[in-house]
Amino acid sequence: MSRFDNVIDRTNTNCLKHDFSSERGMPDGLIPMWVADMDFTVPDEVVEDIQRAVSHGVFGYTEPKQDYYSVVAGWFRSHFSWDVRESWISTAPGVVFALAQAICALTEKGGGVLIMRPVYYPFTTMIEQNGRRVVNSPLINDGGKYAIDFDDFERKIVDNDVKLFVLCSPHNPVGRVWTEAELTRVAEICLKHGVPIVSDEIHCDFTFDGIKHTPLASLSPEIAANTVTLTAPSKTFNLAGMNTANTIIPNPELKKKYDRQVSSTGFYQNTSVGRAACKSAYAKGEPWLEELLPYLSGSFDMMADFIREKLPRVKFRKPEGTYLAWLDFSDYAFAQDELDRIVIDKAKLWLDTGTMFGEEGKGFQRVNIATPRCILMNAMQSLAEAFN
Ligand SMILES: Cc1ncc(COP(=O)(O)O)c(C=O)c1O
Repeated sequence: MSRFDNVIDRTNTNCLKHDFSSERGMPDGLIPMWVADMDFTVPDEVVEDIQRAVSHGVFGYTEPKQDYYSVVAGWFRSHFSWDVRESWISTAPGVVFALAQAICALTEKGGGVLIMRPVYYPFTTMIEQNGRRVVNSPLINDGGKYAIDFDDFERKIVDNDVKLFVLCSPHNPVGRVWTEAELTRVAEICLKHGVPIVSDEIHCDFTFDGIKHTPLASLSPEIAANTVTLTAPSKTFNLAGMNTANTIIPNPELKKKYDRQVSSTGFYQNTSVGRAACKSAYAKGEPWLEELLPYLSGSFDMMADFIREKLPRVKFRKPEGTYLAWLDFSDYAFAQDELDRIVIDKAKLWLDTGTMFGEEGKGFQRVNIATPRCILMNAMQSLAEAFN
């Protein structure tokens, strides 16, 4: 039995995933598999380091020192052969916050910002709520494997006076881990048209079956100079409640613009406890992650076998990365709200409906599989009963 098979009661902890059904318009008693956090405890070493930080009992102003930056940079050096310098890193309370700040720093009001839907929905809201314009170059769904439409991508940049591209890498919700060739091609199109890139790489540590994530900014010095990379230990080590993220910007001019924008919000520093958690996770969390990845990969395989056998009309391709499954129910030809009602009322599951990620998600549901396998397989069983 794996430590990840342990079922932990997360209710009554103000946990967004389990405790907010009525606030979010959902009936009680659903299995929650929506928001992207994990139903697993973090590495013991991280809990101990958080406890050590808390037991001091004084919580005045703090700032990160060299040791913090070295540990963060070290993670990307050792995992992705990306030679991150400490001076490129700025801390942030979250990746979505950093995304919003990068949009404001690098574009003017009304400026076009390119995204590739279906994509993590805060990309759209952060662009729109900051008074910028969404320009969409939809991904191509080629039998469940998604691809970039490079011609459309370039055409959209030119036709819509695009000022910024926001990349999701690995891609939530479709689970692609973009290859070096794909990344190079989009980066070169952006360089050609003077379009900087924000690369959200929060899912970078979740890749399966020998597939490797390539940080966009590691491809060449020119691409690095055109890229703002958003990272966090929050997905990798389940620390979303610790509000700790790191933005990596090798180009000093872009970094200055970004840091000035962040400063204008009044954000000062992450919490001392969050910083201790981040540092501890990157310094000591590796063995835990090495156990987690095969667990998640095995869960996806079990899910794929189950779907093939019990839900043959649902199309599912094991993602290359992320812990999110993107299930295609389009063969049933239900209207999206009908599909949602079956998932909620009959299967008793709380998933993310596909259209949250753009109209390209019609007919889909996103399932967060980072939960003990007994819960995942219960949920799959309920889904099969609801749809058969
Ligand atoms: C692509 C992507 N970016 C950002 C986030 C959230 O980041 P944060 O909680 O640090 O704002 C998520 C969470 O699901 C995500 O999938």
